[in-house]
Amino acid sequence: MRVYCAKDYDGLCRKAANILSAQVILKPNSVLGPATGSTPLGIYRQLIDWHRKGDLDFSCATTFNLDEYRGIAPENPQSYHYYMVHNFFRHVNVPASRIHIPNGTAEDGAAECARYESLLAECGGIDMQLLGIGRNGHIGFNEPSSQFESSTFVVDLSESTIKANARFFSSESEMPRQAYTMGMRSIMQAKRIVLAVSGGDKANIVREAFCGPITAAVPASVLQLHNNVDLVGDEDALALLPPEKDGYS
Ligand code: GLP
Repeated sequence: MRVYCAKDYDGLCRKAANILSAQVILKPNSVLGPATGSTPLGIYRQLIDWHRKGDLDFSCATTFNLDEYRGIAPENPQSYHYYMVHNFFRHVNVPASRIHIPNGTAEDGAAECARYESLLAECGGIDMQLLGIGRNGHIGFNEPSSQFESSTFVVDLSESTIKANARFFSSESEMPRQAYTMGMRSIMQAKRIVLAVSGGDKANIVREAFCGPITAAVPASVLQLHNNVDLVGDEDALALLPPEKDGYS
């Protein structure tokens, strides 16, 4: 694992955006795995800025989003579909036909998961997966549990995630109780993973995930088994990691 430590949120967004843009420049037809949450917002702003300046072209890229709430329509402002369109896709040039996001309103959850997985397999899997980390160590919506689901599945969200994400809804009762998420195998099969993390309130879970035992109780800890991970954080989020001999990049 490579650890990149930025002074603050803006710095971490620039570092993560640099890694993503290098991927797209070196391999224009990359399959990217975008993530949602508040952490990637600045990363998307930076990528949009470079795209507007003519330095970054997504016209050959394909994307597969990590997760989506179940039971919410794409045009609902709380959906991850809406988030992605408004914070990224409408500002760049990924062709609409190559943008993939689980359909939150699909009637048959199992069929939607199968459809998503087979599309992903057809496209050859993910070249670069962007991840955030939930306060309980979840990645995507792979919640702490005793074992992992491997491919895309419908998850019952944990109480802690419902509480953490309810801030985006007008009340906690409106927060969906289920979501679609790529499973751990889909995530671990990504050729490269960039995990972005910001803020002191994530410092404990970052230490548990990267210095603690590998356990399904802390889903992000499984990333210790991946051989191509970039952990990009600000000083507060990385504060509890053991110091590097020569300092972090
Ligand atoms: C949600 C998403 C995750 C994300 C997490 C952390 O639960 N499903 O993919 O990593 O939020 O979000 P934030 O960056 O807002 O802390």
